[in-house]
Amino acid sequence: MSDSERHFATDKLSALDAKVAAQRIAFGPVVFQACRVLRQTGILETVRKGGDRGLTLAEVVASGVVPRYGVKVLLEAGLGIGLFRREQTRFVLTRLGYFLLRDPMTRINMDVVHDICYRGLYHLEEAIRTGQPAGLKSLGNWDTFYQGLSSLPPAARESWLAFDHYYSDQAFPGALPLVFADRPKRLLDVGGNTGRWAMQCVGYDPGVRVTIADLPQQLELARAAVQGGKGADRVTFHPVDLLDESRELPEGYEVIWMSQFLDCFSEAEIVSILRRAARALGDNGTLHILELFWDRQPNETAAFCLQQTSLYFACIANGNSQMYHSEDLWRCLQAAGLQILEQRDQVGQFHTWLKCRRA
Ligand SMILES: C[S@@+](CC[C@H](N)C(=O)[O-])C[C@H]1O[C@@H](n2cnc3c(N)ncnc32)[C@H](O)[C@@H]1O
Repeated sequence: MSDSERHFATDKLSALDAKVAAQRIAFGPVVFQACRVLRQTGILETVRKGGDRGLTLAEVVASGVVPRYGVKVLLEAGLGIGLFRREQTRFVLTRLGYFLLRDPMTRINMDVVHDICYRGLYHLEEAIRTGQPAGLKSLGNWDTFYQGLSSLPPAARESWLAFDHYYSDQAFPGALPLVFADRPKRLLDVGGNTGRWAMQCVGYDPGVRVTIADLPQQLELARAAVQGGKGADRVTFHPVDLLDESRELPEGYEVIWMSQFLDCFSEAEIVSILRRAARALGDNGTLHILELFWDRQPNETAAFCLQQTSLYFACIANGNSQMYHSEDLWRCLQAAGLQILEQRDQVGQFHTWLKCRRA
């Protein structure tokens, strides 16, 4: 056995499989765009309607608005990608093609990659070398993505919000009984975004009052989203930029809640925010964190999605944060003088819930 054979002896992929996978990566952006355009132009849907028998090139061309040349190159690219199989002259949708078309998570992930990340990722190397979100300029002229979120073009903002909501929405129903077990009367939702958690809280407990703390420009979106909803009169707003270390969190809340929030910050920033949370809570309050950790996922694909999402943070969002390993956050909690009282994995499918208090 040669040195290199010994080195890879425990590898899951054979040499041939590894080379095949490497070509998929080499053409990754091409594959991505081909799939997206097949979906957007309706070609995937047209072929799906062709059922088990499938459709010929001429039939697909006849049903759509895309010129023959475009249909032809996309269908043939789709064959190589595995979206279609060819039976004589007909194209038949495969299971992969079906899920690319119909699976909501795939759609949401593809939309955020295209609308928010795609152009900016060209600058990933610069982002990695400098620790700056070098791709953010593809969207606008802000220091961090979150300063610009409320002023993104509507389609891009919708894609980002759909991505954010898709994951946290699944976890909120499971988190509500955990957070309300102690029957808090006042809850501070830090990074409350569009107020979805706040509205769930006031719906769940008719006595609770919720304050959403977020960037001032983001709170305008939250106000608009909350307005008129049932229990909206028990939701208030606290504008704050927590990157400004001189800004304390307000006191008087039994529960401080942070959902999909700490991943927007570097470890040093997290420690600073957690210290301020600990000061605001005093000795009796509890901090509840809902977060996605790549080491606590039910399967490799979920971990994969989070590990890739870290590069959105590196290149677009702020240049210094990520989807963390749980031990990264444990270190931050300890450094901030907080201890974990309770924890639960797979709240929703992918989140970890932590209940903490001052150590
Ligand atoms: C990923 S979203 C989380 C949204 C929501 N909590 C959820 O679970 O879906 C992060 C939120 O943190 C807010 N945020 C980001 N940077 C901030 C800062 N420096 N100060 C205050 N809020 C900030 C963003 O505006 C956004 O609403």
